[in-house]
Amino acid sequence: MDFAARITGTGSAFPKNRLSNAVIVKRLAKLGVKTSDTWIRERTGILERRISDVENPAELNSSLGFSAAQKALEMAGKSPEDIDQIIYATCSPDTLLPSTACWLQHKLGASKAWAMDINAACSGFIYGLVTAEKFIQTGQVRTTLVVGGEVLHPFLNWEDRNSCILFGDGAGAAIVERVPADSTHRILSSNLLSDGNLWELFHMPAGGSNMEVTPERYSRKLNKYKMKGKEIFKVAVKTLADFAVHALNENLMTIDDLDWLVPHQANLRIIEAVAKRIKLPMEKVIVNVERYGNTSAATIPTALDEAVRDGRIKSGQTVLLDAFGAGLTYGSLLLRW
Ligand code: UT7
Repeated sequence: MDFAARITGTGSAFPKNRLSNAVIVKRLAKLGVKTSDTWIRERTGILERRISDVENPAELNSSLGFSAAQKALEMAGKSPEDIDQIIYATCSPDTLLPSTACWLQHKLGASKAWAMDINAACSGFIYGLVTAEKFIQTGQVRTTLVVGGEVLHPFLNWEDRNSCILFGDGAGAAIVERVPADSTHRILSSNLLSDGNLWELFHMPAGGSNMEVTPERYSRKLNKYKMKGKEIFKVAVKTLADFAVHALNENLMTIDDLDWLVPHQANLRIIEAVAKRIKLPMEKVIVNVERYGNTSAATIPTALDEAVRDGRIKSGQTVLLDAFGAGLTYGSLLLRW
């Protein structure tokens, strides 16, 4: 292989509106559902999340992606005309047609790019990075914009306290560029896996072509998330830990070689359990779930961006991205920053 891929810019964007646990407690109380700030904090680590105003064109999924992409382009010193490929990881597209990637291309004026969405739920950003890397390695593509963006709140069942407290809206972006295969700074390796047998753990029955949303199905909230949280929790801890160990092993590294873990931000307890299992101190784990909740495909790029911009992640360091999501899907990617 003559080429490798390197992330040269990152960016993120969130809606303005903060939704605190206290406000959720009041909202659910009106619906006759009991929860508390203490329960949410202790069981998830989440204090607040951002919720976009979908009446505001600046807070659509593709608009958050646009803001994140602009910041990533600026960091990389690139313009929209430099982008060959746009990959938008999302499970909450602006519209089913066209893709959110095409909406973003339209907003950016990236006229030389081809654009497509990827839906791998919370693992989507890693699936997007891996896809970008493969196109770059063939020499077909020089510069890719990968976005993980979500506006999840329209899909939440606000009477289901098990799931509605977890999620938020936001977008993160990365510019991925071609570098020589022996470059120090590059994606080192990646692993993807899905297990469609576990579809029932997290799914949305209606709204796709298999089940049109009718008034009756709408009233039964079949077009909202259904989640078996406890089961996902167990699979997530085991798989994230296994993927992390595998990534290090295949690069002949040990846990001491890892500078940073950027895990999917679903629940602080999942993140802490994974760190404990792989014997990585929490000081080496990037966490932002307390402020944004689970933003699905956006958690990893936004957490990565934050740590790059505040100087925690430094040039030459080894960073592992590690995710799981509905599907179920899993993915990890090891890189040298
Ligand atoms: O990106 C992938 C998306 N999904 C996930 O990552 C989900 C992963 N799972 C989780 O994060 C956790 O399993 C949850 C946060 C969903 C639930 O936490 P848990 O510690 O696994 O709680 P549990 O399901 O064992 O429930 C314990 C109790 C139950 O009551 P009973 O049966 O013991 O009386 C629940 O009904 O807590 C109750 N409960 C709540 N109580 C107050 C569940 N949600 C709430 C709530 N407020 N919001």
